[in-house]
Amino acid sequence: MVNNPQPNPWSFVHINDTQAGSPRSYRYKPALLENEQTAFAQIKKINPDFMLFGGDLTRDGVLHDFEYEEMHERLTRLGVPYHAIPGNTDVGNKHTDKQGAFANRRDIECNMEAGRLEKFASVFGEFPWTFVHKGVRFTGYYEAVVGTGLPQEAKLWAFLEHLSTLPHERDHVVVNHYAMFIDDMNEPNFDITDNEQYLGWYFGISLPHRARLFDLMKRAGVTMVFSGHIHCRCSQVVDGVRLYKTASTGFPQWVDHFPGGDGTLGFYRCDVTESGITQVFVPLEKISTDARSYGPGGHPTPEMRDYSLAWVK
Ligand SMILES: [Fe+2]
Repeated sequence: MVNNPQPNPWSFVHINDTQAGSPRSYRYKPALLENEQTAFAQIKKINPDFMLFGGDLTRDGVLHDFEYEEMHERLTRLGVPYHAIPGNTDVGNKHTDKQGAFANRRDIECNMEAGRLEKFASVFGEFPWTFVHKGVRFTGYYEAVVGTGLPQEAKLWAFLEHLSTLPHERDHVVVNHYAMFIDDMNEPNFDITDNEQYLGWYFGISLPHRARLFDLMKRAGVTMVFSGHIHCRCSQVVDGVRLYKTASTGFPQWVDHFPGGDGTLGFYRCDVTESGITQVFVPLEKISTDARSYGPGGHPTPEMRDYSLAWVK
């Protein structure tokens, strides 16, 4: 049984990976905050019913409560209702029990922890979440909890099993952070210890969890999935599900990997009408060129984090 959508056109937006950071941190790029604020101003003008935020709201929220607080304040000031899930820069990476190929990144130390997931939920709202708005179901979850053994993993599987029993709407939009896969839904797992395969491991969800997640999506009548994390825009349709890898507002990554991939900074506006959901990419009206910055990129080890550099003490 598929419910009918309401006839009045309306819109929502999807944004992710703003990663503005803070001048109280060991690293900071003002341009990332300026780009976030440019996107927010454009979203305010669109006046959507709400904003879906697909993770990486912060640059190092995994380490700093103050980044959560500053971001929460900016979202409150924006005044657009939002539904958020975390990303790895907010709460920690997908788990590994092996050190990866790059010695300057201690992958096991980057594994997410339950306490940070709880902290994120206490500031930005509980997740996973699902609701129906004007005939469209929206669901958000941090899929990278799969395979962790954390309490949040058991919670997610139970949530998804329940979701699959609910009546289907015509459209069901899912917000994830990691991509379900890199090139092909059925691709084998990537080897974290191989420097050629590291990014494939880092950006996607591994089997067998990927297959179970996708099966549950299909059982729940999911029609459209947004994922962030990669910062390169491209899309595919698998078994009738529209899967969108999205851009960041901060900086592009791995654009050369995807044929037709586009690293242009921006977000998605989605218009909902009687005929369905039409997504339009909205590029940032202005890209900040502020060259000031300090601190290292990537996932620096604790010894590389020098808080004496912070502009705000
Ligand atoms: Fe990410």
